[in-house]
Amino acid sequence: MSFPTRILAWYDRSARVLPWRIAPGSAEVPDPYRVWLAEVMLQQTTVAAVAGYFARFTDRWPTVADLAAAEDAEVMAAWAGLGYYARARNLLACARAVVADHGGRFPDSEAALRVLPGVGDYTAAAVAAIAFGRPAVVVDANIERVIARHRWIETPLPAAKRAIRAALEPLVPADRPGDFAQALMDLGATICTPRSPACGICPVTSDCRARGRPDVERVPVKPPKKAKPRRHGIAHWIERDGAIWLVRRPGRGMLGGMRALPGGDWTDLPPAESGLVSVDHGFTHFDLTLALICRDAPCETADAAAEGEWWPIAELDAAGLPTLYRKLVGKMLERRG
Ligand code: ADE
Repeated sequence: MSFPTRILAWYDRSARVLPWRIAPGSAEVPDPYRVWLAEVMLQQTTVAAVAGYFARFTDRWPTVADLAAAEDAEVMAAWAGLGYYARARNLLACARAVVADHGGRFPDSEAALRVLPGVGDYTAAAVAAIAFGRPAVVVDANIERVIARHRWIETPLPAAKRAIRAALEPLVPADRPGDFAQALMDLGATICTPRSPACGICPVTSDCRARGRPDVERVPVKPPKKAKPRRHGIAHWIERDGAIWLVRRPGRGMLGGMRALPGGDWTDLPPAESGLVSVDHGFTHFDLTLALICRDAPCETADAAAEGEWWPIAELDAAGLPTLYRKLVGKMLERRG
């Protein structure tokens, strides 16, 4: 049996049940909005972390037109905790472009999808294949691992991407490209895992070049990790009558458009003041140490300039704070007991 045939037969038996997915063999038609939303959420984030967000988004905004009509602040708050907040800004921009430029229907080709805000090569290919049955070559980290091992491609990433794509391209079955992509994702997530792959139950083990190798975990070969610089910041805890002063971060840049504690710019050098509590938080390109200091009132220059509001401490869960600030607030409240 060919590689795609074995992969699809395994998927027919073992596909994960996921809220954005049409079960293999089902007569249902995938909803491009749900497929797109899931793919944007799943970038850099696990299926387990996304499930709750996906349910809340689709309950609240069941169609792309509903999402397009949402307030920016509402969507940013609903996204809080998923990270990579530029994705949420692009999500809204994309929904609005689908409504304004395409009559509320997602375009059905990879090329037309690629033009939408925030839709890169991966998302365009995934939506074209899964929602519209187009024979697109979908390559995410799971698929990359499955193919690199099956063909034993030892070139380090990212240079290996070309060879992986070239190996995958002729395998994409014209009749079930979406199921094929999702089957490879599931195989990578459940069997061909980064550590201790379960080769004994893999449907494509018979001709896998990694079969029996003690060093299977070595492939795909990761590029050497760059040391991340550490940056520092101060956040202000300004409390009055059971509420604290929250601001909205500027639309562009780190955590853009998100609600936050007020504070100064993040810098390369540690601040002179030491905080009451502090947290360490990893971003993609740097680690941040954020210290909290108490202040009596919003500071004219730094804090009052930003759009802000008094937010009841008892309702902070609903503020939609990004994880960095949630951690810091949590520490502060813990300390106060
Ligand atoms: N990871 C990214 N997209 C996915 C999908 N459609 N199904 C399962 N895992 C995924």
